[in-house]
Amino acid sequence: MTVDLGTGDGRFVLAAAAAKPDRLVIGVDPVATAMAESSRRAAQGPRRGGTPNAVFVVASAEAVPAELRGIAELVTVNLPWGSLLRGALALDPTAAAGIASLVRPGGRVQLLLAADARDRLAADVNVRTRLDGGLASDWRAHGLELMKAHEAAPEELASARTTWARRLRLGTSDERRAWRLILRRP
Ligand SMILES: C[S@@+](CC[C@H](N)C(=O)[O-])C[C@H]1O[C@@H](n2cnc3c(N)ncnc32)[C@H](O)[C@@H]1O
Repeated sequence: MTVDLGTGDGRFVLAAAAAKPDRLVIGVDPVATAMAESSRRAAQGPRRGGTPNAVFVVASAEAVPAELRGIAELVTVNLPWGSLLRGALALDPTAAAGIASLVRPGGRVQLLLAADARDRLAADVNVRTRLDGGLASDWRAHGLELMKAHEAAPEELASARTTWARRLRLGTSDERRAWRLILRRP
């Protein structure tokens, strides 16, 4: 099972569900209206391009429903902003605990974080500074080990099929930087 937290318009969820029809993919975002169209498309019959294995839940990282706790083999958080970005960097303990709460033992969290102030996602947060300044130990306090952290290559960004990755034109210019972080619950 995959949970895409901060899914926005949910297009990433539809693509992931179509790519793996035997896997349940759950999009979670506090903004219901943003997910409505993808939810409607998912509910169409398979002949009309529906993806019955894609579902959407209105919730935030700070208030993860009990039903979602500990269920995800993979949690994706793509280009978060606000408290979700601060949670992804383990700077907001409540949001970080919410992200961690989704992951089952042996499961992973895959974060894609834009670090450019022009993108208005990064606010005052600098990923490099956090990596040098306690990110791994702060995530360990939430039960997750930092396995990998690297600046994403342009081709990796180009294949990130989310609306915001396109909007930010990630992967189309060397100037655009983003980080890929992988965490794991032992
Ligand atoms: C820049 S958009 C990215 C949307 C999508 N992941 C994409 O890449 O197209 C950031 C998303 O994070 C969501 N978000 C912000 N704070 C959140 C929180 N505390 N919990 C869950 N989602 C949150 C917003 O509602 C928004 O949809």
